[in-house]
Amino acid sequence: MAEITNRQFASIDWTDPQNPRSRIYNDIYFSSSGGEGETVHTFLNGNCLEERFRNLPCGSSFTIAETGFGTGSNLLILLERYLDLLRKKSISLIYITFEKYPLSPDDMIRAHTCHVSHAEVLPEFLQKYGNSDFSRNEIRFKLAEIVSLRILLGDISGSLGHFSLKYREQINAWFLDGYSPSCNPDLWTEELFEAMRITAAPDCTLATYTVSGAVRRGLAAAGFAVEKSPGYGRKKEMTRGRLKLQSDRSASE
Ligand SMILES: C[S@@+](CC[C@H](N)C(=O)[O-])C[C@H]1O[C@@H](n2cnc3c(N)ncnc32)[C@H](O)[C@@H]1O
Repeated sequence: MAEITNRQFASIDWTDPQNPRSRIYNDIYFSSSGGEGETVHTFLNGNCLEERFRNLPCGSSFTIAETGFGTGSNLLILLERYLDLLRKKSISLIYITFEKYPLSPDDMIRAHTCHVSHAEVLPEFLQKYGNSDFSRNEIRFKLAEIVSLRILLGDISGSLGHFSLKYREQINAWFLDGYSPSCNPDLWTEELFEAMRITAAPDCTLATYTVSGAVRRGLAAAGFAVEKSPGYGRKKEMTRGRLKLQSDRSASE
């Protein structure tokens, strides 16, 4: 059983069980029609993960950071697709994610009874998530022995300092989720972009569905080269980026 805590869990409107909606942000977590395709297109392909996993030396590790864990769908869809490949190459995946309002264990189960994830790790994930102590600042557990999941609880602004110190130059890819900047500007801050710069490994990439000018300028000011690329479904465009190396910077000066 999960510990009883004063942590504020997400408040979810289940009127449409296929499209659970956050009452706090008045937006859906995922759409049961197309949600998986959107994750694959935007976050997995947007960061070229398959190609990068294939090119990694056996036995190495790869670290992903995400803003907004929600139902964990991005991680579960990633594992549905690539767990076998990661296993085959003995690659350790470290997945660090920020979440202000975690789903209660019951809501997490409910979200996945109507969701499309067939990830082999789903039962293990639900069991470990359900047994977590939400009074702590973070939840941390392993999945399938090679995935280290770390959910940093609370507003992201309270976690970025520690995160930047601990993961300096270690993040290989970012999934910038977390609702649109116009509805949730508190998440898309200069402090986040600065933390992304500090923690970026030389091959660090990012992907997000938003093409907000403020976000793109913030990422560019922090040292990322950003470009628009075709979005998923009805979304015309999305943003992809990568850390500019010193040589890129010198060339543009
Ligand atoms: C679009 S949902 C994430 C969807 C997730 N990928 C999924 O499949 O369920 C965005 C998440 O960001 C979290 N969030 C929003 N603002 C935040 C903040 N300032 N700090 C930490 N988490 C935040 C919300 O609580 C929500 O769970």
